[in-house]
Amino acid sequence: VISEGFFDQLAGIVGEGHVLRDPDLLASYVGDWTGRFSGSTPAVVRPGSVDEVAEVVGLCAAERVPLVPQGGNTGLVGGSVPLGGEIVVSVLRLDHLGSVEEEAGQITAGAGVTVGAVQRAAKAYGWAYGVDLASRDSATVGGTIATNAGGLHVLRYGATRAQLLGVEAVLGTGAVISHLGGLRKDNTGYDLAGLLCGSEGTLGIVTAATLRLVPQANERVVALLAFETSDSAIAAGLALPRLVPSLSAAELCLGSGIQLVCDALGLPPPFPQPHEAYVLVEAAATYDPAPELETAVSSLAGVADVAVAPDDLRGAALWRYREAHTEVINTLGAPHKLDVALPARGLARFVGEVSSTVAHVDRGAATWLFGHVGDGAVHVNVTGVAPDDDRVDVAVLELVTSLGGSISAEHGIGSAKRQWLARTRSQAEIEAFRALKRAWDPAGICNPGVLLP
Ligand code: FAD
Ligand code: MLT
Ligand code: ZN
Repeated sequence: VISEGFFDQLAGIVGEGHVLRDPDLLASYVGDWTGRFSGSTPAVVRPGSVDEVAEVVGLCAAERVPLVPQGGNTGLVGGSVPLGGEIVVSVLRLDHLGSVEEEAGQITAGAGVTVGAVQRAAKAYGWAYGVDLASRDSATVGGTIATNAGGLHVLRYGATRAQLLGVEAVLGTGAVISHLGGLRKDNTGYDLAGLLCGSEGTLGIVTAATLRLVPQANERVVALLAFETSDSAIAAGLALPRLVPSLSAAELCLGSGIQLVCDALGLPPPFPQPHEAYVLVEAAATYDPAPELETAVSSLAGVADVAVAPDDLRGAALWRYREAHTEVINTLGAPHKLDVALPARGLARFVGEVSSTVAHVDRGAATWLFGHVGDGAVHVNVTGVAPDDDRVDVAVLELVTSLGGSISAEHGIGSAKRQWLARTRSQAEIEAFRALKRAWDPAGICNPGVLLP
């Protein structure tokens, strides 16, 4: 039981208006985006500076009060919601966006700045941010670092970790570490930013970061390729990054998912005939990338049809078929979201087998597959299953690990997958994780229900 004095002390740090306790105000902080996870919290605290974050964390450590860091609350593995009754530390007020350093191609952003805001700032200076995802206008710099978010352009620019030039963070002790100098080369010891990246709020709270920017590629071509079999779509998705130097995305959709999106949103079908599988491709460069994409596509086996967007508006319309999968699947009820990576040699087999694996466990379940095929990853969403019935999750993740894959390609472990961490990381690795956790968060207050089994 937390004493009233604790909440008074919090209010003394951040101001009374930034300690939320009214249940109506707490509602949006305690449930996740999919509706699968919901918890409860005695308070949401909204610090407005790194010093306030440090004082809040220091107080929680001294009083042994667990906390959940939260950004845009778009995470998909139950890591951002207080499932164990923790207090929520929302970083959305850390929204200071520095100016773009035009020569160096970098920007320093507060943890609460959205990915979309970073993208827009970069664009105004002829640069771009290498990370893009459909949650861009809610997902934050801090949250994408904490999850090492991937998204649509990983095959070109890497995931969030590859964009990090430095971070500022408050560790679980309340200590502030800050390394925002933005040097592209800096081999002076442990990569603390890299360790915080993907730590899912278990080591501390990221308060700001310096991010590298990438050159803007203004010439762009978007095309949707239709295939008669998912095997040929997957082979194409895996081959395209090698064949097209300007490739910036290669995303898999299946006929069933495209049909669902069209029905839900009233969109026209992309082709006169339905096809079993599709790959959405985007190439972007400072020159016209269409010829090299065309040459590559003509060399692919099993292409049944091709739609090329003649302009940006039509390009966005093609992207809609892919990006809308997440929101449309959510309308079928809270999905079980499994986000997996496979070795290239096992991806087609996995996609071929996973739906029947699910059906074998639960005849009433529907399986939806889509995602970042160019990265060797695929999203497996299962609907029609009760939120706490894990049988299909077990079956899918067993198939993944039997083929040498990872149980999380990009969303993280969160609370949803922590009991399976040991299937993908060795005991020695997990012990190294625990040692790090003990050193950086000795009181064990930072997101205690997440990541570690
Ligand atoms: P939250 O959801 O608030 O938090 C996520 C995790 O990070 C939690 O464990 C939380 O405790 C921790 N955390 C948050 N902020 C901090 C901080 N400042 N310091 C320390 N820990 C912190 N993800 C992808 O990887 N690729 C995609 O393509 C993608 N597309 C998406 C599309 C949609 C429509 C949606 C809803 C989600 C998508 N996601 C995707 C998932 C999600 O957007 C990412 O995981 C994102 O990184 C979460 O950012 P957030 O600010 O919302 O973090
Ligand atoms: C995506 O690629 O669309 C995201 O990771 C979200 C999801 O998996 O639904
Ligand atoms: Zn994804």
